[in-house]
Amino acid sequence: MNRRLAVLISGRGSNLQAIVDAIADRRLDAEIAVVISNRAEAAGLDRAREAGLETLYISHRAFTSRDDFDRALVDSLVARGVGLVCLAGFMRLVGRHMLEAFPEAILNIHPSLLPAFPGVGAQRQALEYGVKVTGVTVHLVTPELDGGPIVLQRGVPVHGDDTVDSLSARILVEEHRAYPDAIKLVLDGGWRLEGRRFRNGR
Ligand code: GRF
Repeated sequence: MNRRLAVLISGRGSNLQAIVDAIADRRLDAEIAVVISNRAEAAGLDRAREAGLETLYISHRAFTSRDDFDRALVDSLVARGVGLVCLAGFMRLVGRHMLEAFPEAILNIHPSLLPAFPGVGAQRQALEYGVKVTGVTVHLVTPELDGGPIVLQRGVPVHGDDTVDSLSARILVEEHRAYPDAIKLVLDGGWRLEGRRFRNGR
């Protein structure tokens, strides 16, 4: 698979940093072709610049429809020869143009064991529900929010005295390990989808 990545962000960019670090440490054989943010103030853009990466700010507000925003994303990604798109705290739904241009080639990371607790505030949802184990999911993106085939999951225990902040921090440590591992799995190939099951021979 084409190992040129795009990382799409909206904020802090700690998962972007984890991917940058994994590539630098040679744990992940890939290259980040571009980092795109839909928010100009995203701290992740500074991280990307510090790493010497090309950055683009594409505001969804500059477009009258989601379709047009989506087309602008596709144009930018295709122009850079991107093979795999990694959503990392990107707070926009990707639309049909993106899904058609990058079939089975868009990943997202979510801070729960999906299908539990999709959408925003997954850590708070887990805490309030009272689960004893939550975690991290990296999945292929489909039109359904947080609903695509699961590439990799890691569990994280919930402690009795956890707050949303303490639980989020413990999950984040696992996110930073899981995302580079999942990207490697996808790039290394030899996998297939059976229905919604991601099968890689194990
Ligand atoms: C992470 O918790 C990720 O799972 C979720 O959004 C957050 C992004 O954090 N989708 P960061 O911007 O990577 O630090």
